[in-house]
This record gives sequence, C-alpha cells and structure tokens, in this order.
Amino acid sequence: MTSGRLKPRVLLGVSGSVAAYKAVELIRLLRKFCEVRVVLTRAGSRLVSEKVLREASGFPVWTSLFKGSTPIPPGTPGGSHPLAVVPHIEFAKSADMVLIAPASADLLAKLALGLANDLLSTLCLYATCPLWLAPAMNTKMWNHPAVVQNVRTLRQRGVPFLGPENGHLACGEVGEGRFAEPSEIALQVESHFRLFGKWKGRRVLVTAGPTQESIDPVRVLTNHSSGKMGFALAQAALNRGAEVTLVTGPVKLAPPNVARVIGVKTALEMRREVLKAFPKTDLLIMAAAVADYRVRRASRTKIKKARGGLSLRLVRNPDILAEVLRRKKPFQRVVGFAAETDHLEKNAREKWGRKPCDLLVANRVGGGRAFDNDQNELLVFSPNSPRPVRLAKDSKSRLAEKLLGMLDEF
Ligand SMILES: Cc1cc2nc3c(=O)[nH]c(=O)nc-3n(C[C@H](O)[C@H](O)[C@H](O)COP(=O)(O)O)c2cc1C
Repeated sequence: MTSGRLKPRVLLGVSGSVAAYKAVELIRLLRKFCEVRVVLTRAGSRLVSEKVLREASGFPVWTSLFKGSTPIPPGTPGGSHPLAVVPHIEFAKSADMVLIAPASADLLAKLALGLANDLLSTLCLYATCPLWLAPAMNTKMWNHPAVVQNVRTLRQRGVPFLGPENGHLACGEVGEGRFAEPSEIALQVESHFRLFGKWKGRRVLVTAGPTQESIDPVRVLTNHSSGKMGFALAQAALNRGAEVTLVTGPVKLAPPNVARVIGVKTALEMRREVLKAFPKTDLLIMAAAVADYRVRRASRTKIKKARGGLSLRLVRNPDILAEVLRRKKPFQRVVGFAAETDHLEKNAREKWGRKPCDLLVANRVGGGRAFDNDQNELLVFSPNSPRPVRLAKDSKSRLAEKLLGMLDEF
C-alpha cells in the first residue's frame, strides 16, 4: 500500500458500457475497505453521470488528460519544474490497483495495443500497480475475433479478468458478456488486499470440472459439473499469492490467471496429471467431478443405431483421491469433495472415514443444486471440529474464500 494511507486506493476506470451505472454500487462496496478515485471516459460520461460517481466516491471524478495539467515553463533547466503537474502520472502513482469496471471492447483494444489517447488509457501505461479488468459487452462483441485476440494478449500479459458472466444482457439477449456482479468484483479486490502474500511460495494444485469418457468417436459419458467451484478455489488461492496449477476437465469457463492450466478429458488423464504434479504440491484441492466408471472398450467407429437397446460394459476408474492420500507426505494437505444426492452427512462421513483428507467438502447435487449453479452450500469435515461445519448458501467465490480460510494456517 502506498505509504501514509490506512486504506488501499483503488483507481476505478469506468468506460462506455451500458453497465457503467453499476459502478455506483461497486464503489459503495469497495469503499468498505478502500479509497476509490474514479476516472471516467468520455463515452462512460454519456452512460453514467459524473455527479453520481462523485457523490458515490466522495471525490472529484477525473475525466480529462489535459485538465489540471501544468505545462513545464519553457527554458526550465533539465526539463523539470516544481510546479509541473501531469495528472495521469500523479493519478497512476497514487493507486494501489487500477480496476476498470466496466471495461468496454474499445478499452480492451486500447490496452492490448498500448494506445494512450485519453486519461484512462494513458495512465494504464504509466501505472505499475496491478491492473484488473471487468469487461461488459454484448455477446457478439465479446466473441468477435478482434476482442478474443485482445483478451488473449492481455491475459498473456498477466492481467486478471473478472467476468464477464453468462446471463441476461441489457440489449435483451442472453449470453456471455454480462458485467460480473459488483459484490463478486468487490470480494476479489478485498481478498487481494487482505490476503495477498499470505500464501506466497505455496504451491496449490486444483482439479475442476467434469471428465468425459468416450463411448465411441462421437459420444461420451460425462456429468453436469461446470468447473465453477474449482475455478473459484483456484482464484481464491491466487488471491492469497499462491502458485496455482489448475487441472481441468472440459468446461466453458475462462480460467483465472493461474501459473499453469492443464486441460484433460478422461479420468485417466486427470489421474496422470495430478500424480505428476502432486510431489511438488503443498495443497491439493480435488474439486473435479471425476467419472467413477469408463467404457471398457470404446468403439473406434460410431456405434450404429440398431433395433433394441445397447449395453455398455463399464469398468471402474482409478480412485485418484485414495491414491494421492497413499502418497501424501507430512507437509502436504489434501482437500477432497463428496457429491451426494441423499444422506449427505452420513455418506460424506463414510467417505471421510475411508479417505481421511485434511478437509472433506460435501455438497448435495441433483435437482439443479451445486452443479452448474453459481451458488452452493457445503458441509465441511475437518479434524479440528467434532461436527461438520455448515457453510450456508452463498456464491461459489465466497464459499471458496471461506474454505481456504479454514486452511490458512496449514
Ligand atoms: C447505449 C450504449 C451502450 C453501450 N454499451 C457498451 C457495452 O456494454 N460494452 C461495450 O464494449 N461498448 C458499449 N458501447 C459502445 C462504447 O460506448 C463505444 O465503443 C465507446 O467508444 C467506448 O469508449 P471508451 O472505451 O473510451 O469508454 C455502448 C454504446 C452505447 C451508445
């Protein structure tokens, strides 16, 4: 944090997205733990009033590259002058984070190219603090090859993205591009300031998503896991400064900015990657929904439709969690997940008896619960507590924070 201040300072860039009005709620949430100074683009000012943002943040809103700048008087020796004020430099210097929320497609393009043609884009080139982006736009814009390329460039540069989400858009369409919930953005920013560095040097391996077991070249056996819980856990470990590796089955989500993302399809591939990475792991979180069975011999050609039914011979997949627990060294911690449709506590307790991990996280699935849902509720078995700890219904990011909080001292 910049010296002399009790609270971190977030420089919030608001650009010309229809979601710009949501910056007001975001500022309210951010101000609970940080100072917020707003930089508003010209297009942004057409979509949310500067006055409202000033009221919300409690400070004047910065809008112009030239307003307030004092040119260096000609003939000044060495080109410097005590009265010279260059706003974008002053603003960028004073920030502990630049958060652009919402970030328009235009802004992503400017940042990817390194353009500096207004106050916000110029100060982004100068700022050395973390830059985070929460984009919001129509699905067609988000999926446009130019935007996809710009997002890839920025990700490769290590810029974290918060959202966008899938859902209802202001234009009436439904799809990816929706501004992440202000409460989710505020949670991630708060975790960054509160926890960053806490897990520095720790190596965390997270598995996420479903697996797919081939029946033939076109059909698979899989499950409804979306990967959201695993991705939220990877993000929460990242927020603590850990070095995170994510082994993920096929999902539709963009991964957080972790050190390594390893994509797998089958349970056997998941096993191979987990066992390879495990010896260099301090904490393994097995949130993936790994198939218990695979087809004994997948057909090389598409199975033709025939009269009558079709029987598939299934064989057991290896139990990765059990295998990992057998190889676990004393310094390592392992978190397992149990997905149950019924008798949650009883079944999960039995699983924990057979596989004594450091935390066993049980969740009820089926009927639209847990899988592919942004919310979940958990029952956590831990050796530190005689009874399982109930984590009430909440967003998966918040639950991920709570779970990692239970491991903070590991
Ligand atoms: C009503 C309205 C809503 C808009 N919403 C979005 C949006 O959600 N996302 C986006 O990328 N652009 C949106 N645009 C287009 C941008 O405002 C436009 O590309 C602008 O040049 C962005 O400038 P800025 O990046 O400097 O803020 C919208 C435009 C209008 C008129």
